[in-house]
Amino acid sequence: MPLKKRKMAVTAALPYANGSIHLGHLVEYIQTDIFVRFQKMMGNECLYFCADDTHGAPIMIRAKAEGTTPEKIIEKYQAEHQADFRDFHINFDNYHSTNSTENRELAEKVYLELKEGGHIANRDVEQAYCENDKMFLPDRFVRGICPKCSAPDQYGDSCDVCGAHYASTELKEPKCSVCGSAPTRKVSRHLFFRVSDFTPELEKFMAGDALQPEIKNFLATWMKEGLKEWDISRDGPYFGFKIPGEEDKYFYVWLDAPIGYLASAKNWAEKNGRKLEEVWGGDGGEVHHFIGKDIVYFHTLFWIPMLTGAGIKIPDKIHVHGFLTINGEKMSKSRGTFVNAKDFSANINTELLRYYYASKLKNSVDDLDLSFQDFVFRVNAELVNKVANLGSRTITIMNKAGLGNKLAVLGNDNELILEILRAGETIRNDYEACDFALVVKRVCQLADKANAYIDDNKPWDLKNDPEKLRTVLTTGILAFRFITFYLKPIVPAFAEKVERILKLEPREWSHISDYPTNLLANHEIGQFERLMDRVDMKAVEKVMESAKQKGETAVKAPAPTHSHLTKHGEDAAPPASTGQIEYDDFAKIQLRTAKVLTAERVAKADKLLKLSIDVGGETRTLVAGIAKSYTAEEMVGKTIVIVANLKPRKLMGIESNGMLLAVNDGEKLTLIGPAGEVGSGLKVS
Ligand code: MSP
Ligand code: ZN
Repeated sequence: MPLKKRKMAVTAALPYANGSIHLGHLVEYIQTDIFVRFQKMMGNECLYFCADDTHGAPIMIRAKAEGTTPEKIIEKYQAEHQADFRDFHINFDNYHSTNSTENRELAEKVYLELKEGGHIANRDVEQAYCENDKMFLPDRFVRGICPKCSAPDQYGDSCDVCGAHYASTELKEPKCSVCGSAPTRKVSRHLFFRVSDFTPELEKFMAGDALQPEIKNFLATWMKEGLKEWDISRDGPYFGFKIPGEEDKYFYVWLDAPIGYLASAKNWAEKNGRKLEEVWGGDGGEVHHFIGKDIVYFHTLFWIPMLTGAGIKIPDKIHVHGFLTINGEKMSKSRGTFVNAKDFSANINTELLRYYYASKLKNSVDDLDLSFQDFVFRVNAELVNKVANLGSRTITIMNKAGLGNKLAVLGNDNELILEILRAGETIRNDYEACDFALVVKRVCQLADKANAYIDDNKPWDLKNDPEKLRTVLTTGILAFRFITFYLKPIVPAFAEKVERILKLEPREWSHISDYPTNLLANHEIGQFERLMDRVDMKAVEKVMESAKQKGETAVKAPAPTHSHLTKHGEDAAPPASTGQIEYDDFAKIQLRTAKVLTAERVAKADKLLKLSIDVGGETRTLVAGIAKSYTAEEMVGKTIVIVANLKPRKLMGIESNGMLLAVNDGEKLTLIGPAGEVGSGLKVS
């Protein structure tokens, strides 16, 4: 039975326009691209929309520091992002910008609808203000002493040492991260979106099937905590859209960012003689978002009420994926695993990464790991040795066999081909469910069978029986053709090359069920071309080398600590000031190794562990802010390095004698230890 054609608008989250695309981002853009390519092969009108996310304080502050304009910065990154996406065969139907006319108009329209509906409140807010820079400082741009545990040099929203959350105005000895001067406090009126007005709609949304079960659980917890009003305004100067009817107030970047999905769709619609309403869910059409787990909050609690209040169709599905780790750890610059798209594409065939990600992607929010050794092993063993090899061994023999490159007329009873065709429906369902790992697994099993068929029928021994030879080769080539077809959403360039070699037109998924008319009886194939090269660790080393050399600065701000699924506040933290110290200061520091005897968590401080350590026979107590990266059990028995002569300090009422050394590459800490003991090879759980 032919399936009804669907209309779908699909989006991936809009990357920030002040940093390069890295391997973590690519998980999402590749996952979404595979889904969209599959839908297109199904004959559905599936449109893939994205854009650069351009607004916000960080980009404005950066432009000022670099003596340029935000517009220049976003222009540079927009071009770079689009080139990277092309290199990875990520095929957007439209790639737009949130700094666009469509987005301004839509943001205003949504806001005014919410306002007319009575969902916008306003209230005075006291905030840190820098008299020198003449601007309000986002929390992440104020640093000072934690009001709770007195740890120095903490961000304005939370303390990395004791995990406390506070307002930036509570920090002691606060400093502006831009100019270093002490900020004052200033009151200003802010606009708030009363999200709780839409509690019933949110509950209905949660009860439907738009979300994965894990996400529903998180949402339920947040809903129980109660929906707070959401501050959607920022005072000027700010790089963003002015709020209509207000003096010098701008939409907070996260208000206009998701509206950027609509703006991109609208921009496409206008270029194609269509209407936004029609493309975005019109005529029974579906809307799908793909996002990472850190931005679920914005896409549910805020976005659903925004759309509802503005009378715009809400998404049918929000597909949430986990975070990428590399070699079991968070991406890290010092280890050469903070890999930008370009570092990879300059050294390795990008389709190999698409294949590897596909082999790991399920419809799940679990993090996924790219282990470089596993990557090399897996793409060579599967894509090169199983799949490509099936094509090269059959096509090259055919080219040389004197059979005019003509395929045989196969009977209706070819077991191998029948089995491969029957798998088509299962694989189709796996794609639809975003279980690409299963697709890859099934395809590899089919390739194993096809290779075993060739091994059993030994075409190289059939020179004296040309018609038997033609039948065996035809079976192998057809098997290869369908296997490649199944992999086409994952490795599109590879599949297109195979189509060229076999002289085939691109086909829709439905032709799989047209058996046996699709069996290419008497079809003449073309000449073999090299299909897929093996990859080796040397190429991976080059990737890591070039990743290490880059002084990339635009790292995502560490996620807030109260929930690993949310990302609040301003978006990127400025780099900490890099004050140099004199040699004499350094020489004062006494570094010693110590062994951890016992470890326990500190009550009410989710980042602190209380350790008792042995320092050359002396037992000391030391409090360390590492509980987010190491459990107490893991710490016991480890050899660590400490600053032994630090003045004792009290943390949460416990006296700490010394400071443990660890490197911080964003969200996780890795202990520093003597070579071969606790060093960099250690897995941080
Ligand atoms: N600009 C916002 C999104 C606005 S959508 C209206 C943003 N940008 S981002 O550049 O930080 O991230 C873009 C997407 O990439 C997000 O969905 C994010 O979850 C995803 N990833 C960023 N780093 C990632 C990993 N290390 N691993 C997997 N996905 C990650 O958030
Ligand atoms: Zn300042």
